[in-house]
Amino acid sequence: MKDPHLGFWVCFPGVLLLFFSLYSPSAHSQSAGGDDGAAMEALSKSIGPNSLGWSGTDYCNWGQVSCTKDGKVFKIQLGNQKLTGTLPPEIQKLSNLQQLEVQNNQLTGPFPSLSGLQPLQVLLAHDNNFSSFPSDFFTGLTSLDSINIDHNPFAAWQIPDTLKDATALREFSATETNITGRIPDIFTSSNFPGLTELHLAFNYLEGELPASFSSSSIQSLWLNGQQGTNRLNGTIDVLQNMTSLREVWLHGNFFTGPIPDLLKLGSLTTLSLRDNKLTGVVPASLLNLKSLTSVNLTNNMLQGPMPKFGDGIQVDMTSQNSFCSDKPGVDCDARVNILLSVVKDMGYPTRV
Ligand SMILES: *[C@@H]1O[C@H](CO)[C@@H](O)[C@H](O)[C@H]1NC(C)=O
Ligand SMILES: *[C@@H]1O[C@H](CO)[C@@H](O)[C@H](O)[C@H]1NC(C)=O
Ligand SMILES: *[C@@H]1O[C@H](CO)[C@@H](O)[C@H](O)[C@H]1NC(C)=O
Ligand SMILES: *[C@@H]1O[C@H](CO)[C@@H](O)[C@H](O)[C@H]1NC(C)=O
Ligand SMILES: *[C@@H]1O[C@H](CO)[C@@H](O)[C@H](O)[C@H]1NC(C)=O
Repeated sequence: MKDPHLGFWVCFPGVLLLFFSLYSPSAHSQSAGGDDGAAMEALSKSIGPNSLGWSGTDYCNWGQVSCTKDGKVFKIQLGNQKLTGTLPPEIQKLSNLQQLEVQNNQLTGPFPSLSGLQPLQVLLAHDNNFSSFPSDFFTGLTSLDSINIDHNPFAAWQIPDTLKDATALREFSATETNITGRIPDIFTSSNFPGLTELHLAFNYLEGELPASFSSSSIQSLWLNGQQGTNRLNGTIDVLQNMTSLREVWLHGNFFTGPIPDLLKLGSLTTLSLRDNKLTGVVPASLLNLKSLTSVNLTNNMLQGPMPKFGDGIQVDMTSQNSFCSDKPGVDCDARVNILLSVVKDMGYPTRV
């Protein structure tokens, strides 16, 4: 080892290797993007071999896949591809993934956990045949902006409290996905300052509307058509504080009590309350809401005069209420009005 040049020659192959791995054009699929390479290979296999014509190891050249300059996958857009396979758990290792779209396929098996995938902004997985949704899904997803998983036959699941991690959430849609239990009381504007859309229709939700809705920024609220023997119940009083609301679909539940004053809901266009157990007099403030274009009150136990809405408002209140007249705007008999003012103080109980 006296020869001063020996050390150089011993190290040389390593230097050479480093040189080639830095400058090799496909380096990203072998080294820098090592995890991505393995995950993309697993994805390619599990969605059904060759179903997208993906070939070779350079996944950044595969169709529907977008990579950053250094070979990290940030977008996978596989919507409407007639895919029938599954999604592998390795997707969670795509550490730069921002957008995952697999909607409108026939994918089966459990939906993989993406917990901790901080860059994820968009997930579209609606209209598939996934068998379950992971309970830790939202953990650490602080960039998540929109998620749509509508129409999947998941095994019964509940909305986890860890949804709170998704503080950037704007749109959450999980209609017809077998959600059970209560709506968690986490929807304050400080937890979700930008939440505008909450669509949880046709599930198995039960219990009352959470008090935290009171300060939420939700504009479009779909909770209609809960399916269980227990549906959503209690009053709809909290609506009076939800001043951002534009569209409210609560039909097909077991809500009771009167329609609250909706004076502060200056953007409300659509109010669908039909097929519930609402009682009491329709508040005059509703008739004066300038923004309203469509209201459905059919099949409740509403009392007092049949409300007369303005021209151009689409109204559905044809059957099954307890109005004192079947002509809109006609006042009730004085004795009926006295009775109504008495039961008003009792919160308009269902049976008088
Ligand atoms: C959905 O998956 C189940 C089993 O996981 C299977 O029996 C059914 O045929 C699938 N349906 C569709 C439309 O792919
Ligand atoms: C929904 O969950 C229930 C359990 O509450 C289960 O029996 C049912 O099979 C699930 N539905 C689907 C479509 O998987
Ligand atoms: C609402 O339904 C739950 C069961 O889902 C029940 O425990 C509760 O008593 C009901 N509340 C009202 C006000 O009916
Ligand atoms: C509406 O908001 C006020 C003020 O924050 C609060 O005191 C009240 O309890 C809320 N009412 C409902 C029904 O949420
Ligand atoms: C509400 O009623 C209108 C008028 O009958 C109808 O066209 C509309 O489809 C209904 N909307 C909902 C959400 O049920």
